[in-house]
Amino acid sequence: MASPMIAPSILSADFARLADEATAVSGSDWLHVDVMDAHFVPNLTLGLPVVESLLKATDIPLDCHLMIENPERWAPPYAEAGAYNVTFHAEATDDPRSVARDIRAAGAKAGLSIKPGTPIDDYLEILKDFDTLLIMSVEPGFGGQSFMPQVLDKARAVRKLVDSGELTLLVEIDGGINASTIEQAAEAGIDCFVAGSAVYGASDPGEAVRKLRAQAAS
Ligand code: DX5
Ligand code: ZN
Repeated sequence: MASPMIAPSILSADFARLADEATAVSGSDWLHVDVMDAHFVPNLTLGLPVVESLLKATDIPLDCHLMIENPERWAPPYAEAGAYNVTFHAEATDDPRSVARDIRAAGAKAGLSIKPGTPIDDYLEILKDFDTLLIMSVEPGFGGQSFMPQVLDKARAVRKLVDSGELTLLVEIDGGINASTIEQAAEAGIDCFVAGSAVYGASDPGEAVRKLRAQAAS
């Protein structure tokens, strides 16, 4: 496995100072941007105009996590705008493959996300059409929740398929990742770790990213 990737989630950053908050984690692999529509999840955050501004303000590749209904309509514009990776939820669409195709055609990597209670077995067949699998380790909607270790079985199952060459996919985890939980997630085969409160709640977010990466690699 390549060295672990860390994707700070700006959900825990100061939204009035997003450019500075991105600079504070300039050593990160990706910057995770949580888009919520107050329908798919009971929270509302930001949308395309903010992502367009962020793209001008940082060189860190943007990892857009769309917790929204109707990704068929709303996901491709994030790819067109220049997001590096565009992830939407399996639970939000009947045709995830066609959404992935549209995201890729618009120039971004395509990611599929599943909530903690969603089994992976139903989606193994279509994962070959994706670049990223985002396993939620909390119920999507809010930062600062507790990590759900039971989702790591899904990571182990997909890791096996990646290691055996059956799938080419980055395995990402999101929710409750911090100094106490990142090692068990790393052992389960996670490639990329999203961390919101553990990074932006720290006095030095850049240092928090370096520490998490070192822990995941240990
Ligand atoms: C939750 C979001 C997460 C959130 C993680 O729905 O998808 O990206 O920011 O926050 P922490 O790391 O604090 O659990
Ligand atoms: Zn997220």
